[in-house]
Amino acid sequence: MVSEHGLHPARDEEVLRLWPVVQGAGLFDTLEGLERFRADAPWRVQVTESGELAVLERWRSHLDVLAVKGLWCSARRIPALVGQLNRIARQQGFGRLLSPLVPTGAASPYERAGMTPYCTIVVLRYDHRSAQQSGRALPTGVRLRLGSQGDLDELMCIENECFDSFWRCDHERLNSHLAEDRIVVAESEYGVIGYTLATVMGDSGTLGRLAVRPSQRRRGIGEALLVEAVAYLLRAGVGDVSICTQEENLASRALYRRAGLRESPGRLLFLVGSTEAEDMS
Ligand SMILES: CC(C)(COP(=O)(O)OP(=O)(O)OC[C@H]1O[C@@H](n2cnc3c(N)ncnc32)[C@H](O)[C@@H]1OP(=O)(O)O)[C@@H](O)C(=O)NCCC(=O)NCCS
Repeated sequence: MVSEHGLHPARDEEVLRLWPVVQGAGLFDTLEGLERFRADAPWRVQVTESGELAVLERWRSHLDVLAVKGLWCSARRIPALVGQLNRIARQQGFGRLLSPLVPTGAASPYERAGMTPYCTIVVLRYDHRSAQQSGRALPTGVRLRLGSQGDLDELMCIENECFDSFWRCDHERLNSHLAEDRIVVAESEYGVIGYTLATVMGDSGTLGRLAVRPSQRRRGIGEALLVEAVAYLLRAGVGDVSICTQEENLASRALYRRAGLRESPGRLLFLVGSTEAEDMS
């Protein structure tokens, strides 16, 4: 017998019923997108009979981390559901579970479930009133152009140089960003030396990535990529342009502020826990 409080892979009618919730959170652009995601691995969309919902995805192909992209339930139910998600993650071969991004004030139910804070995130939003005129030209010999599939290997090199293994994008995800989103690269005689990723979902624009090779930094390349990407998103007609970064990443925060992105009040947290943690359900 299925318990009212037990998670199970969502059935078709449950997905249809819960779609407005997922859509509202901006996890998928279309119902077809969610259906494709589910068709690849049905266990990644879990529901309870009472309508609680969890959407799960491998965080990076090189890590044993299962990310909870979204969890819809009361705060009181989080420890029990995280316990069940640990069990599902373990069955799928994952050693760690990553929480959704939660406001710092809402982290305690995850901590009660045995998770610990991993990283504090700052959200920044574009506000044209705070944009400063850069006036700095791109260095001689550097140009910006749209990225293409042929850039994949060089983009992976930049990922390796610029991000630690938790944040580094994997080959597969970068490939799908190249196909579905907008990547602009900065190129010089040394090849691709930086890039940015901009995504439009509904009325929102997100700057998902910005990186410049360490040997090419402090020459205005990051700023040029950022300003170009913000301009593209505004041209695309989005009502909101946002970017997330780690609180400890002072370089990017300084750059974003300068380009007119204003830090939102409050902080968000990722928490992580071992999937061997005691089941609270
Ligand atoms: C953040 C990053 C993209 C900046 O690239 P960059 O090409 O060096 O940036 P710019 O030269 O355009 O810098 C523009 C301004 O940003 C600020 N800035 C950039 N790097 C800074 C640093 N290390 N410390 C303080 N301020 C910094 C400065 O105001 C700088 O202007 P200035 O050089 O005239 O003082 C680069 O450091 C990077 O790739 N870091 C690793 C990846 C990362 O953290 N990405 C962002 C999170 S997704």
